[in-house]
Amino acid sequence: MILLDGKATADDIKREIALVVDKIVSEGGKVPHLAAILVGEDGASQTYVGHKEKACAQVGFRSTLLRFPSDISEEFLLAQIDKINNDNEIDGLIVQLPLPPHISEQKVTEAIDPSKDVDGFHPVNVGKMVLGLQSFVSATPWGIIELLKRYDIETSGKNCVIIGRSNIVGRPMANLLSQKSKPGDCTVTMCHSRTKDLREHTLKADIIVAALGVPGFLKGDMVKEGAVVIDVGITRVKADNKSGFRLIGDVLFDEVAPKCSYITPVPGGVGPMTIISLLKNTLIAAEK
Ligand code: GUN
Repeated sequence: MILLDGKATADDIKREIALVVDKIVSEGGKVPHLAAILVGEDGASQTYVGHKEKACAQVGFRSTLLRFPSDISEEFLLAQIDKINNDNEIDGLIVQLPLPPHISEQKVTEAIDPSKDVDGFHPVNVGKMVLGLQSFVSATPWGIIELLKRYDIETSGKNCVIIGRSNIVGRPMANLLSQKSKPGDCTVTMCHSRTKDLREHTLKADIIVAALGVPGFLKGDMVKEGAVVIDVGITRVKADNKSGFRLIGDVLFDEVAPKCSYITPVPGGVGPMTIISLLKNTLIAAEK
C-alpha cells in the first residue's frame, strides 16, 4: 500500500508556483492577488480561509481577507463582490461557503466575475469544465486529478465509483474522470444517499472517491484488493488536544488501507491538494 502524500505533493507544487512568482517579479510583473470573503464566525471556515492565506504568503502571492459579521445583508455582500470584480488589483475572488441562511449561495456564486472565479463554482466555469474547455475547475476535484497524475496512477478504462454528488466535489469529479484525458478515461459510477446496494458498486471499483461527508463510512468489506481510495472527508470531531478537534475522513482507514494499492490519509491527503488548486487557479487568473 502506498500512501498518497498530499502534503508533500502540495509542497512540491508550492515550490513550483513560488518560482513562477519570482520570475514574474524579476520581470517587473504584478504579483498574483487573491481576495477571500468570510461571512460569520464558522470555526471550520475560519480555519480553511487561514490555510488559504498562509499558502498565498508561502508562494509569494498577495492576499486580502474581507471579514463580515453574519448579519450583513445579501445586497451588501453582492455590492462587495461587485467592487472586487471591478478592482484590477485583484485577480481571484473566493467567498467561503457556507453562507448564513438568509444569503443565497447561488446568487453570490453567480455574482462573481467568471474570470476571477478561482473556486470554479460559477455556472460559466462549470459549463466549460463539463464541455472539456479551458476553465477554472473546482479546487478539490482538480487537486485529486493532480495527485493521480503526480503518482502516475493509471486511470484509463478503470471502474471508478464516486460516493457523493455535491456540486463542489462529486459531480465535477465524475465529469473529469470520465473525460478523454490523462488522468481520465474512467468508467464512472456516481453513487449517493439513494443508491441501492452501494457495496455492490464499490466492490467492483478500481478507484473509489469517498466524498459524502460521513466519517468512517467506507469500510474494509466494501473495497476490493488493490483499489485506489481517495478520501475527501474532513469531518471535525471533538478531541482532547490543543485545537480541541481532530479531522476524520469518510474512509475507515485502518480497515481499508491494507487492501489498497494507493490511499490518501486524512489529514495530509486531499486537503493540501485543494489549497494548491486554488493557488494554481489564482496564478492562471493573474496570467490572463
Ligand atoms: N467551503 C467548503 N469548501 C469550499 C471551497 O472549496 N471554496 C469555498 N469558497 N468554500 C468552501
